[in-house]
Amino acid sequence: MERLRLGFIGAGFIAKFQATALHFVRGVDLVGVYALKGSEELAAFAKQTGVGDCKVYPSVAELCKNCDAVAIFAPNYVRVDLVGQVADAVQAGAKLKGIICEKPLGRNVKEARQLVNLAKGAKLPTAYFENQIHMKAVKSQLKQLAPVQKTMGPLSLARSAEEHAGPHEPWFWDPTRQGGGVLSDMGCHSIAIGWYVLTPVGKPLTYLQPAAINAETALLKWGQPKWRKKLLDKTGVDYAKTPADDFATGMVTYRNPDTGQLVKAQFTNSWMYDKQGLRLLMDGLGPGYAFEINSLLSPLNIFIGDEAAASVADAESALEKSTASRGLLAVQPNEADLYGYVDELEDARDAFLAGRDALLNWEYGLEITKLCMAGYLSGERKRTIDLTDPAIQKELETYVPLIAQGKGGEVLGSEGA
Ligand SMILES: NC(=O)c1ccc[n+]([C@@H]2O[C@H](COP(=O)([O-])OP(=O)(O)OC[C@H]3O[C@@H](n4cnc5c(N)ncnc54)[C@H](O)[C@@H]3O)[C@@H](O)[C@H]2O)c1
Repeated sequence: MERLRLGFIGAGFIAKFQATALHFVRGVDLVGVYALKGSEELAAFAKQTGVGDCKVYPSVAELCKNCDAVAIFAPNYVRVDLVGQVADAVQAGAKLKGIICEKPLGRNVKEARQLVNLAKGAKLPTAYFENQIHMKAVKSQLKQLAPVQKTMGPLSLARSAEEHAGPHEPWFWDPTRQGGGVLSDMGCHSIAIGWYVLTPVGKPLTYLQPAAINAETALLKWGQPKWRKKLLDKTGVDYAKTPADDFATGMVTYRNPDTGQLVKAQFTNSWMYDKQGLRLLMDGLGPGYAFEINSLLSPLNIFIGDEAAASVADAESALEKSTASRGLLAVQPNEADLYGYVDELEDARDAFLAGRDALLNWEYGLEITKLCMAGYLSGERKRTIDLTDPAIQKELETYVPLIAQGKGGEVLGSEGA
């Protein structure tokens, strides 16, 4: 089997998770990393776990010369610059077979489109890493229900939620660097999965046409004085000045272009889910059938009593974004596989070795960014946004949400006071 030599740009949280996932992926070696911080640690981890003889490179250009594909695992606000550097490296002779970018593709449509154009200009196949679409549970329900769907008709309602108690790094909380709050950070997952599961079996990813979106953004926990101060002390981000949404919910309506049927995907995201840890919840309802996925339901529970709790050093070993290290704890033994990281890496490997885009390419990522932006627009205007209106589509091309501009107080109102 031909092997793919992969290089990482960024060596933080997701890079470590993806390196963990690589342990279960055949034919891919992690051969290099470039990052402002964490490179040495990631390289040591890769060597120790046997996922590759990972070398630390001093620049994007050097990394690109020494691998077959690169993955952008750096923060949202450095995307355009970093992909520009990759495109320059290709121009200078680096022989890359593909480029991966984590969600969200851009902080807004303009940035996402810049990325699409940079990759096109460099003639690079792309992979947009939206892991939830690759989850084995999502694939299995599709496979199980495909024959039912053929006889009964497709799903008409999907609901998806991703929630946890808040991100790990300060830049996520800063709406100007991240691109917004939870709607930008996690709404992109839930909107994508909703659209995906509603799509009739065998039809392309964007077959269902987005018709309308109605969304609400709110600051329910981290704007309260006590929590605002905690956030300021921990991250340096002041939600009295630049608040962001810690809760977002909404509904996207899609139109089936052949039958005219309208179907709906509801999404809910929060950074105020003070329960065990990260929870992904998805369900879908069709005529006479349904599915439901809850990532907190594990075959494994452990119990740690108060006396024993002092000996637990790392709460997050049980579950991503764990909030507790004692009591009855849900443990997911293989989160990298559960959340779809293994499968998205395999998909990118097969695509790049065959010289094509992955299942989800950057044009698809751009569409998801557009839906998130339309969600912010709906929250600002407090009305349903007609996605079939050419004037709205034009406006979205350059729209930057007030929250992302650092003017969240105008939208989140007194909730943040
Ligand atoms: N799919 C998921 O569920 C998921 C989960 C977490 C993060 N993410 C995404 O992954 C991306 C990274 O998130 P993270 O949690 O790993 O962030 P992080 O802050 O933990 O790590 C970022 C890494 O990028 C490096 N970096 C920052 N600026 C850089 C620059 N200019 N050049 C090179 N390296 C630079 C940092 O030094 C660090 O190594 C984000 O876009 C985030 O949305 C996705």
